[in-house]
This record gives sequence, structure tokens and C-alpha cells, in this order.
Amino acid sequence: MSAIKKVVVVGAGGNLGPFILSSLHSANFTISVLTRPDSNSTYPSYVTSVKTDYSHPSLLDAFRGQDAVISTVGFTGTSFQIQLIDAADQAGVKRFVPSEFGWAKDRPMLPELAARLEPKEKVFEHLLEKCRTSETMSWSAVATGPFLDWCLNIVPTLGFVVPKRTARIYDSGEEPLTCTTGAAIGTAVANILLNADKTANRYLKVCSVKATQNQFLEALEEATDTKWNVTRVSTKDIMQGRTKKLQEKKFQEAFLDLLTVQLFEDGAGRGSIVEPEKSDNELLGVKVEDVKHVINMLVSATEAV
Ligand SMILES: NC(=O)c1ccc[n+]([C@@H]2O[C@H](COP(=O)([O-])OP(=O)(O)OC[C@H]3O[C@@H](n4cnc5c(N)ncnc54)[C@H](OP(=O)(O)O)[C@@H]3O)[C@@H](O)[C@H]2O)c1
Repeated sequence: MSAIKKVVVVGAGGNLGPFILSSLHSANFTISVLTRPDSNSTYPSYVTSVKTDYSHPSLLDAFRGQDAVISTVGFTGTSFQIQLIDAADQAGVKRFVPSEFGWAKDRPMLPELAARLEPKEKVFEHLLEKCRTSETMSWSAVATGPFLDWCLNIVPTLGFVVPKRTARIYDSGEEPLTCTTGAAIGTAVANILLNADKTANRYLKVCSVKATQNQFLEALEEATDTKWNVTRVSTKDIMQGRTKKLQEKKFQEAFLDLLTVQLFEDGAGRGSIVEPEKSDNELLGVKVEDVKHVINMLVSATEAV
């Protein structure tokens, strides 16, 4: 395949997109971003911003002459990717990277979580089918496990609320977890395109850190130089309480509960997406780092703002 040079990132103004833009820029790709007409997203000056109403003609216009499409659309826009895939194929795009960035498909998943993620699965199957018959387009996807920056700063999926110095430790806190920083996900995506032949039609796995919740807590206490307020909870109780939350329409809380049980139930082995030595880290330029080092770096960056 000829080298990929021109890349469109769709939905690049969200939580993950900026990390990917930054890595693509460092690797000298020519970058456009596709954004909805009423979007408030803002972008760095090195990208060309193109508005789309996701109609087929507007997507075709945006994708003609482009080598790759990276989708980072948020979960609520998942099904829009069907339109993106069809237009990318028709426009002659060579590589499509769907908005996956989560669990690995070969790892155990709670059935309730799998049901929630079904829209992503439908998009992925559509992509596989399209690429099977496409003359130009192949795909790559990447599993990252929890996105560490997001889990510490936006949604407390790992049980830690940094500004309040509070922690919820699930079961024994000893279940191993792999997760990836935003910067490392950006690096992985740039390297997918830089190694287009080796990454074609592959579901790749990366991780920056492997640690237990107790080790994350120790690292956070050290980084903040404070003893944290710790609550211990059982994943069995959480699953039981979840039914009531659903009845009360507390959907966000119930979803967070599901994520924490997926990750931390003792002995379930669902928190780790890959053993670091069996990951695609080397191909994608991702390093496994010491938990204390990563936490210190992320906490310092957040608290300096
Ligand atoms: N593993 C993890 O822990 C983790 C954590 C967070 C996210 N993720 C995954 O990473 C990917 C990106 O997530 P994110 O949090 O960066 O997304 P996000 O911030 O929620 O949204 C990213 C962009 O998608 C576009 N968008 C949002 N809603 C849309 C809709 N209904 N229709 C069309 N476009 C829409 C918007 O772009 P414009 O306004 O420019 O149109 C938005 O800025 C998703 O697949 C998500 O599931 C994984």
C-alpha cells in the first residue's frame, strides 16, 4: 500500500480526539477534522476543519483524496459511523479506524455491558463486511482498556476522585487492571497509519500501565502527599443495587456501576485486556510505564491547571 499522508479525524474535539490530533501532527500527517454544523468544538490551527451534516454527498466531498479516516465520535454518535464507512469506501479511502478504544473483543465481558456496547459491535461488523469487498479500504481498530486520563478527570471509573481525595475500593482491590493514557492512544493511532501494511485488518491491543486498584491508590496518595478517604464496597452489592438505580432511571450511575464491576470483581479476570508482553505496544510505539510515574505525571498536569 502507498504511504498514508492525508487523514480525516471525525469528532476530534472530544475527550480523546485532541490526543490523536497532537500525535498525527507530530508525525507530519496532513489533517482535516470533520465536525457537525452546530458543533462548538475548537481545533488547533494546524488542522483544516470541515463541517458535515453526515449526508452522503457531504461525506463524499470531505473524504475524496483522503488516505485515512479516524473516527473518534462519542458513544451517542456511534451509529453515524455506518455513513462514514460507506462514504469512505466510495471515496477510495485506504484505511478506516472506527471509534472503538475500549475492551478487547476476546476478553470476558459482563453480558449487561456487552448489551450496552451492541451499537459499536454493529458498526464494527459493517466495517468488516465493507472492507471484505472493498477495492481500496482496509481497517484497523485498537483496544485500550480504560482511558486513564478520562477515568481520573472526567468519570471516576477506577473509583478515584482526585480533587476530593476519595477512593472506592472494590472487593479486595487486588484485581489486575490494564489501562492506557490519552497520549499513548494518540501515539498508537499515528503508528497504525505509519505501519499501514502491518496493521491492516487487525484489532490491536495496547496498554500503558498494569496495576491493581490498591497500587493505584498508593500511587495517588504518594502523588498528592495525602492520606485519602477510602470506602470499601463489594461488587455483589453493587450489582444488586444497580437494579434499583435502573428503576429510578439513574442510568449514568448504573452504567458506572457496570463498568466498575466489569473491571474489579475479585477473580473475574475482566480488568486486563492483554498481558503487556503480548500486546501490540512495540509495533504501535506504546511503553508500559510504572504506575507511580504515570499517576504522578497525570496528577501534576491536572493540578497545575
Ligand atoms: N476506554 C475508555 O475508558 C473510554 C473513555 C472515553 C471514551 N472512550 C471511547 O473513545 C471514543 C471517543 O470518545 P470521546 O469521549 O472522546 O467522545 P466525546 O467527547 O463524547 O465526543 C467526541 C465527538 O464526537 C462527536 N459527537 C458526539 N456526539 C455525537 C452525535 N450524537 N452525533 C455525531 N457526532 C457526535 C462530537 O464532535 P463534533 O461536535 O465535532 O461533531 C464530539 O466532540 C468513543 O468510542 C468512546 O466510547 C473510551
